[in-house]
Amino acid sequence: MEMLVAIGDAYDSEKMVPITRAHAAASGQEGDLYWVELLAEGGAKCKVPTSTNPVYDFKYFHKTFKDIPKDEAEVARRVMEAYKKLGAIISWSCTPYLCENIPLRGETVAFSESSATPFVNSVIGAYTNREAAQSALAAGVIGRVPKYGLLIGENRKATFLLDVETKLTDEFDYTLLGYHVGKIVGYGIPALTGITSRPSTEELINFCAMSNTSGAISMFYIPGYTVEASTVKEAFHGDVPKEKATVTDRDLKRAQEELQTTSGKIDFVQLGCPHYTLKQIADVARRLEGEKVHEGVAFWVCTSATAKLLADRIGYTQIIEKAGARLVVDTCIDEPCWIAYKQKVGMTDSPKCAYYRRFKDVMVGRLEDCVEAALKGTWR
Ligand code: F3S
Repeated sequence: MEMLVAIGDAYDSEKMVPITRAHAAASGQEGDLYWVELLAEGGAKCKVPTSTNPVYDFKYFHKTFKDIPKDEAEVARRVMEAYKKLGAIISWSCTPYLCENIPLRGETVAFSESSATPFVNSVIGAYTNREAAQSALAAGVIGRVPKYGLLIGENRKATFLLDVETKLTDEFDYTLLGYHVGKIVGYGIPALTGITSRPSTEELINFCAMSNTSGAISMFYIPGYTVEASTVKEAFHGDVPKEKATVTDRDLKRAQEELQTTSGKIDFVQLGCPHYTLKQIADVARRLEGEKVHEGVAFWVCTSATAKLLADRIGYTQIIEKAGARLVVDTCIDEPCWIAYKQKVGMTDSPKCAYYRRFKDVMVGRLEDCVEAALKGTWR
């Protein structure tokens, strides 16, 4: 409560308000361990449903790799134990708003994690500030947050108008768009025009994750497609946009080039940052059916436990594994379980994965490029 009140004081908040749910992005890091254990050992319990971010699948990775540093593994294990004591929803997923912890429009919540904050504000129309892992967990335990920022309607006004001239054809284009928008807008609320067809759930997830990684975008508008404004005028609450920019093909191309640190031979492919949805898993299975991943190349797909359960039932997992790739649950790309790849060259469809990379060099491309590279062992 002291922490939440201090945050409220810093933002001149006048009162605390109840929340209905929280998502705490604390994972296997030492600072997270300190906080989660402090609460658990003090006897705290989550008062509202509070979901948890990925750490890593302990049983699976310790069986697969022998060299995970013991001290880092111990931190991750203790964080996971402490969350259980707190009575959190141990979802270990970074897309909890799809299945394990879904707010409705108008709910006040406390969601941390890059894709989660802008997704619940913009796509669902719930109200959350850009919580830290620590403040979101405190809010989950107390069941209240200070009222400030995006919990107040007038602060949800767009601040930056972006005309998207370039044609967006798939999730990867939205990924690059998010990366570019985060960089040029920084801390504002962008309203995007020029998008002529409804973005898919996966496209929006990727836009959210990347814009809130290269920048700090907690909310955005695509008038007509996101819930709170059907026109640019509504998004700006009737004001005239002061800051404007155009997004061109060149901007997205430059974003992709900026993320590459190498080209040529690859050691592994890593997908699922943010966690892949069932639809994305189906796409990987379709592309890998009847194929074989190149000898010496590892192929990892990260997802949530719920999506994996369905992938097992439907048969996607078997197709993916038969091709020599692996579908893993509960795991973040920024965890010590990937130590085996520290000096290796990886390829991913996620700039966020490239940004936090725990490996030597990285290439970033579309899903079809990643699959092609995995089958050939190299990418141009
Ligand atoms: Fe999810 Fe970790 Fe990426 S939390 S978005 S897999 S950095």
